[in-house]
Amino acid sequence: MAKILVTGGTGYIGSHTVVELLQNGNEVIIVDNLSNSNVQVLEGIYKITGINPAFENVDCTDYVQMERVLNKYPNIDAVIHFAASKAVAESVEKPLMYYRNNLLSLINLLELMLNYKIPNIVFSSSCTVYGQPDKLPVDEKAPIKKAESPYGNTKQIAEEIITDLAAANKQLKAVVLRYFNPIGAHPSAHIGEIPNGIPNNLMPYIAQTAAGKRTELKIYGNDYNTPDGTCIRDYIDVVDLAKAHLAALTHLLNNKQEKQVEVFNVGTGRGLSVLEMLTTFQEVNKLKVPHKIVARRKGDIEQVWADPTHANNTLQWKALTPLTETLKNAWKWEQNQKK
Ligand code: UFG
Repeated sequence: MAKILVTGGTGYIGSHTVVELLQNGNEVIIVDNLSNSNVQVLEGIYKITGINPAFENVDCTDYVQMERVLNKYPNIDAVIHFAASKAVAESVEKPLMYYRNNLLSLINLLELMLNYKIPNIVFSSSCTVYGQPDKLPVDEKAPIKKAESPYGNTKQIAEEIITDLAAANKQLKAVVLRYFNPIGAHPSAHIGEIPNGIPNNLMPYIAQTAAGKRTELKIYGNDYNTPDGTCIRDYIDVVDLAKAHLAALTHLLNNKQEKQVEVFNVGTGRGLSVLEMLTTFQEVNKLKVPHKIVARRKGDIEQVWADPTHANNTLQWKALTPLTETLKNAWKWEQNQKK
């Protein structure tokens, strides 16, 4: 059993990870400013696990408050740092907000980790660092491309900050997880994704259109150089993704990690098109989702999917949930939102 500080622990991926941590006997302290989540998520976590983890409503960019949290909860073994802003388009409109939120929070956290002798961090990065890869599936050795957005840039800079700090501090160990596209919800439907306003991402948009909250799904372009003309992504079940954090943590805490910083792709290894996702969602949930093809969305990558071999072999982790289950869970969660 370990004592884990989870920043952004009421967010989409954070909350699912907290559930996995608690179910595996860890003590969890959540730090979250609820900027893109709400306190009901804590009830969802309790309904699934029967445990109320410690919760501190704190903004990670506030050093003084973060220090107060570390004084209140001594002897933390590791930090999982989810807290960040994540909307690509918003980051283009408000770059300073993104650089401040995503980088200042990381810098504060790393400084406090050094001061309070917390040696381990798991960091949330993104496949966005690869841009459009030259070779597919993309592995961790692929070159980092110039970021398409301030959001993507914060992930690249954050990875560099962690690497530089590790070089200067031999006691620091980090796992960087590059997520592909997380979808779905906990099978209990007690926690899931809560999009802020009109969803930007495909899965919540499909689910909300199926529920009648949106009139139709717009498919952004069918003239890409892919088999059906729509973009291809690696969609990973959010519970599988949460379990990757547990595997990373075990790797760190058991001192299995030789390099100070290890980077892992977290994806399924399977690329699916927008049309394939839509069709499968309709089939498994036996419903129709009104949709139309519109122009391409600016900044979209044509196709990307992961080579997850490094995580499969080194972390003994693999994405296991069948797509049909994931899509059923996404719909179950959406239906739960109406109540
Ligand atoms: N799409 C639609 N209609 C929609 C929403 C999305 O056709 O209403 C399409 C997009 O054009 C894209 C695919 O569905 O082809 C996936 O789009 P998402 O917005 O769900 O996901 P992205 O791959 O664009 O973005 C995600 C994360 C980002 C991250 C990026 C990394 O949301 O945070 O992956 O590539 F930066």
